[in-house]
Amino acid sequence: MSSTPIASKIIPKATRAKIDPNVVQYTSEKQKLALQALIEEFTITPELFQAIKRNFMEGMLKGLKKDGETMAMVTSYVIGRLDGSETGSYLALDVGGTNLRVVSVHLTGGGEINTRQTKYRIDEHLKVGDAKSLFDFMAVCVDSFLDEHQIVVRGDSQIELGFTFSFPVLQTAINRGTLISWTKGFNAAGMVGKDPVAFLQDAFNRRHIPVRVAALVNDTVGTLLAHAYTHPNTIMGVILGTGCNGAYIEKVSNIEKWKGKTPADEMIINMEFGAFDKERQILPLTMFDNKLDRKSVNPNKQILEKMIAGMYLGEITRNVLLNLIDRRLLFEGHISPDLNHMWTFETAYMSTIEADNTPTLHATRKILESTLSFPQTTLNDRQIVKIVVELVGMRAARLSAAAIAAILDHTGAWKVKSDIGIDGSLFEYYPSFDTDIMDGLEEAFGPEARKNVSIGLAQDGSGVGAALCALLAAKHGTA
Ligand code: BGC
Repeated sequence: MSSTPIASKIIPKATRAKIDPNVVQYTSEKQKLALQALIEEFTITPELFQAIKRNFMEGMLKGLKKDGETMAMVTSYVIGRLDGSETGSYLALDVGGTNLRVVSVHLTGGGEINTRQTKYRIDEHLKVGDAKSLFDFMAVCVDSFLDEHQIVVRGDSQIELGFTFSFPVLQTAINRGTLISWTKGFNAAGMVGKDPVAFLQDAFNRRHIPVRVAALVNDTVGTLLAHAYTHPNTIMGVILGTGCNGAYIEKVSNIEKWKGKTPADEMIINMEFGAFDKERQILPLTMFDNKLDRKSVNPNKQILEKMIAGMYLGEITRNVLLNLIDRRLLFEGHISPDLNHMWTFETAYMSTIEADNTPTLHATRKILESTLSFPQTTLNDRQIVKIVVELVGMRAARLSAAAIAAILDHTGAWKVKSDIGIDGSLFEYYPSFDTDIMDGLEEAFGPEARKNVSIGLAQDGSGVGAALCALLAAKHGTA
């Protein structure tokens, strides 16, 4: 195995340097009580953890039974497994987060994958403009990638492309589907209910770009496939990044709503688990979450995603800090004007603050004073900020663990050697996210889970996975 871009390992990263709230010198009794209340609100107790996991499993069953349920449990049409001997060259287009990526994937056989990729930033105005402009932009990026890498197509032939489109799509074939809703700040007009493949193919055709969209893939499905290429026991692909979601291998006989024909007895399900608990029955939503939800482009949707994903954690933290400031319990009631604007407290700052183990909380100070322009901060201010960050981060990790545990319980996979491929900036960079998840799995099943289940970073798996999916589509003639 050489030149594979998929780093399948637990990467060394900073660990959470936790503050004990009992050692903080509070400035007043009121401040102490406010902190205690926050700790209570944000803590997922063992009982709540189990209850969320149970509810999640029920949600999975509902989604497998019929369409239109809260967790869509989308049948991906991906069947068949890869054994690493496959060869061929494919393109992948990965859309669904901050950047758009075009990847050329060359499978040389023997499990070897060579890739070249270019990232393009998607402007905010494109995300919320009209759908045609967004898809035209995608086609232009693919075109310039072909130029840049001097990929020449001869005669009438076309390059096969796997399209990772990481939004809830009701799939009707391996390369067809309809968008259920936008998420993660995207809201391009005229797309809901339409087929993203048709839009993309049309954009290619109008520009005479010789590319055929052979497969439509969710990033979780791509991650699962890519991880499975190097870890045959892979049963789940998870994204913990700008958004969050999971895919796993399900028995076709368990998919009650499946009316199609397939020779296979297993199919990958894209769960769309970020939508869990739209009914607000079990998740411990705080007023800070509700504020974020109301101001989002998709209110009342993706409730779990908004408590876990990297796009939102900084904003929840900002909401908590503003509340403490307004009650004069932080920074003596003074605010830096920067913090008045939505999204200014980035989730990346949380990673730095979580890892800050200096006695004076030096790194936290730098973020507050240099980046966010607070004129000055006291140690007490910084400690309070750090505790708030830890509460929001830990809640996200435990909710992720509850979701993963539910899937492992549903499939029974925790009882046997199983691999889980996880991609996304949150998992990659947030301190202790991996260990928090493993702790949660142990909490759910006991020490056996730790022995059996391995979670690993499946870096950039979604691009490679889309190419693998295009290959599977060709192999099984499903496209
Ligand atoms: C989308 C999913 C995607 C996840 C991670 C969510 O907002 O609905 O389709 O897998 O983000 O990118």
